[in-house]
Amino acid sequence: MQAAIKFPEFLFINVYSQMRLHVMERMGLLSELVEQIEVVPQGVTSPSYAQITVERYPGTSRILHWIIAVLVLATWPLGFTIHLVKNDVSMTFYMLHEGIGFLVFWFMLIRVGNKLIARAPSPKDPPMERMAAKSVHGLFYIFLIVMPVSGFLATNAHGFPLQWFGLFEVWSPIDKTPEIAWTLSGVHYWSSWVVLALFLLHMGAVVMHHVIKRDTTLYRIL
Ligand code: HEM
Ligand code: HEM
Repeated sequence: MQAAIKFPEFLFINVYSQMRLHVMERMGLLSELVEQIEVVPQGVTSPSYAQITVERYPGTSRILHWIIAVLVLATWPLGFTIHLVKNDVSMTFYMLHEGIGFLVFWFMLIRVGNKLIARAPSPKDPPMERMAAKSVHGLFYIFLIVMPVSGFLATNAHGFPLQWFGLFEVWSPIDKTPEIAWTLSGVHYWSSWVVLALFLLHMGAVVMHHVIKRDTTLYRIL
């Protein structure tokens, strides 16, 4: 019986590759495969492979994505809660917030360099969705540099140079400068809401792709 359109009729599902199976399921292909297995004539043994390959971001991009995501997801709530905790604890919050936030700056510099040389996976969404994704990603790049720079300059301008985890004092291009300190704090404050908005849009896109459209976008970054 000749039933296959997308796949040859003699199919072999690699049971060891859970991820590939899962990807097929998400693409709505698994039911087709199962249907087609049912029509394999008895006695036929030579399998052919049905492979769905997901073009992912290069390893460097994926690693940087998750390191920075973890750092930002720690830094943001720490910054937000500094004022909500008792005075003696708030010094620890400052230290952790500023110390981890400062790391974001250096990893973002590496990430920008990586972006310039690493090959991005080929686009697969309609132009409007691609433009929306590019805008959110681009703004992330900008604001994840603005955030640590404004925070770092603000704390120096207020007269509190960064002691990185109490280990050493980080050199700053500015000393105590009260005239610009609150402007820098304002930039830091408003940028933090932009970052939150970008994060919510980003999560909305993840849910749209993975839960609603059930496509393979999430695997590009895993
Ligand atoms: C990605 C990195 C960063 C994120 C997402 C972030 C986020 C935040 C957030 C949400 C707040 C609370 C809103 C506000 O009061 O302004 C805050 C406050 C603050 N952040 Fe950051 N921050 C980052 C990096 C830094 C760095 C590197 C420093 C300093 C070296 C810093 C210093 C401060 C200071 C001094 C405050 C103000 C607390 C106060 O009002 O006394 N931040 N940050
Ligand atoms: C604060 C945390 C996060 C930030 C700042 C962030 C930022 C980014 C950026 C800038 C990109 C573009 C790729 C690149 O240039 O490296 C990206 C891609 C992606 N991120 Fe995140 N991300 C965060 C958290 C997450 C989380 C928690 C998930 C999943 C649950 C996720 C899922 C994805 C996916 C699926 C892509 C690929 C999108 C595509 O192929 O078009 N991200 N992210």
